[in-house]
Amino acid sequence: MASLPTTDKKAFVKDMFDNIAPRYDVLNRILSGGIDQQWRKKAIAMLKDDAPSRILDVATGTADLAILAGTLDPDEVVGVDIAEEMLQVGRTKIENRGLSNLIKLKHGDAEQLPFSEASFDAAVVAFGVRNFEDLALGLSEISRVLRPGGQLVVLEFSRPTRFPVKQLYAFYGRFILPTIGKMISGDDAAYKYLPESIEAFPDGADFLDVMRSSGFRGVSQKRLTFGIASLYSGRSSG
Ligand SMILES: C[S@@+](CC[C@H](N)C(=O)[O-])C[C@H]1O[C@@H](n2cnc3c(N)ncnc32)[C@H](O)[C@@H]1O
Repeated sequence: MASLPTTDKKAFVKDMFDNIAPRYDVLNRILSGGIDQQWRKKAIAMLKDDAPSRILDVATGTADLAILAGTLDPDEVVGVDIAEEMLQVGRTKIENRGLSNLIKLKHGDAEQLPFSEASFDAAVVAFGVRNFEDLALGLSEISRVLRPGGQLVVLEFSRPTRFPVKQLYAFYGRFILPTIGKMISGDDAAYKYLPESIEAFPDGADFLDVMRSSGFRGVSQKRLTFGIASLYSGRSSG
């Protein structure tokens, strides 16, 4: 059962995503019933009023969120990720959509972002923060590269608390998700890691506390789909 790594989580996570990269998008759609893209759209909608011109997508993976961020009419969207194979899938999607001038993908670590202070107006992370080796360090780095007042929106799985969704979700995570995940990705560890990492991750008020202590103010949480996922937001205190 214990497939969550206790040491060198970063190398484990990088290898896992490099391995499942070609099947990542199709698995996302199947395992979430397509709702993952609706959640990403809600995340991007939270930035609309700010009209950011430079947007950073941290842990961009195959760039779904970066591509949606492009609909806000920014000057530039930059996506960073540690898994080169995920970025390759993302680059192909960006090229196929003719978005190469708008969206740039770069190999980089959230915990040591390759950007100077205050270089972005807004930042987004979808299903990425749970995978950071050092959550507080990753969030502090995002705060550093945001201009003071720049908004961070985080989309992440959370844990439903109410009957019967809580029980159904636990059953889905423990039995159905690892079985389908393994069948399609061929990776046994990856889809055991997913429910375990959700279980181990600070959600709700605990996550908001980490955001505050990492340099964000005005933090808030919005639960999506019975609390299966949440949108968190806050502004860099600069
Ligand atoms: C579940 S995927 C999410 C991808 C994408 N944001 C999406 O919405 O589908 C998690 C991604 O986080 C990346 N990741 C994990 N730790 C990271 C880190 N420290 N810095 C940058 N990317 C990281 C992984 O390589 C992987 O591509």
